[in-house]
Amino acid sequence: MLIKIAKPSDLHESDVTPESIYLSRRRFMGGMVGLGAGLALSGNVNANEDYSDVPEGNAPTWLKEKISETEWRAITPSDPEKDTLTPFDDASGYNNFFEFGSDKRDPARHAGSLQTEPWSVVVDGEVNNGGRFALEDFAKPSQFEERIYRLRCVEAWSMVIPWLGIPLADIIKRADPTSKAKYVRFETLVDPEQMRGQRSSFSIIDWPYVEGLRLDEAMHPLTILAMGMYGRELPNQNGAPLRLVVPWKYGFKSIKSIVRISLVEEQPLNSWQQIAANEYGFYANVNPEVDHPRWSQATERRLPNSLFRTNTIDTLMFNGYANEVADMYAGLDLRTNY
Ligand code: MTE
Repeated sequence: MLIKIAKPSDLHESDVTPESIYLSRRRFMGGMVGLGAGLALSGNVNANEDYSDVPEGNAPTWLKEKISETEWRAITPSDPEKDTLTPFDDASGYNNFFEFGSDKRDPARHAGSLQTEPWSVVVDGEVNNGGRFALEDFAKPSQFEERIYRLRCVEAWSMVIPWLGIPLADIIKRADPTSKAKYVRFETLVDPEQMRGQRSSFSIIDWPYVEGLRLDEAMHPLTILAMGMYGRELPNQNGAPLRLVVPWKYGFKSIKSIVRISLVEEQPLNSWQQIAANEYGFYANVNPEVDHPRWSQATERRLPNSLFRTNTIDTLMFNGYANEVADMYAGLDLRTNY
């Protein structure tokens, strides 16, 4: 069991947060707020998960304020040997963001050209309450939460990242879906002037990058829209200003720099499925028992690693979140629905 879902009344910050982290967190948090009503997640955390040396970003004032009010709600990975936080430099220096190139270092090199302020998000489709929202208005009604999650890429590398964001369920509830809404479809910005990968004639992606979730997956309390990580706003290469985080699915589901969220009746065709449907499916649940056609998914390379320290660990079913999510897939053949 890797995540304990506790009643808010069961959980105190002192139970889940070693002093070193608590103190470093106070660097950016004006004041801790108590746990509100609703779901609280807790788990063990390691004393070395202090990221007080991460450089301050350049967030707009409203985002700094939201971050300063963050609730400490979830610390999920719990293996004290393996689940230490990935250093910020690795999490922000080794990325997949094809809008800026296909090399792992391209996003950090080139995503600075992306203008993330102002930013707006369209919520549309099968909703009663849609519209175009300035990111600030979109985020403001929700409480920011910190979630430390594993991120397992389909390419068999992984990291552990402390995200800051809001439950996607908040946004969906506010949009008031109609009875026809069965899936959620997400789109990334298309702007070849700012995104050099979209100008490349070698690109295999038919822009925009698209992802999708079933409505129950989107409403799951582990599913968040992140606007920050490591106590600051998202670096552009990690999907600023708004990205999806679905920790039990392969990383390609975590779509970056979102501009549209649509509630739809039909299962969306996600970008990687469109490119190679025999290799990448709609579900993309982390599953060590179902290999990629070209490599095993039984193990993963936990970053940072090197030639001398391969840091290979076993991959866990649903990336270690089986207790929380397996019920959603009861009766579904996970081999054919990869
Ligand atoms: N979102 C967009 N728009 N474009 C992308 O190329 N890559 C995906 C996902 N989201 C991608 C994206 C893949 S394959 C992974 S593994 C994760 O982002 C990587 O997130 P990270 O760079 O923050 O580790």
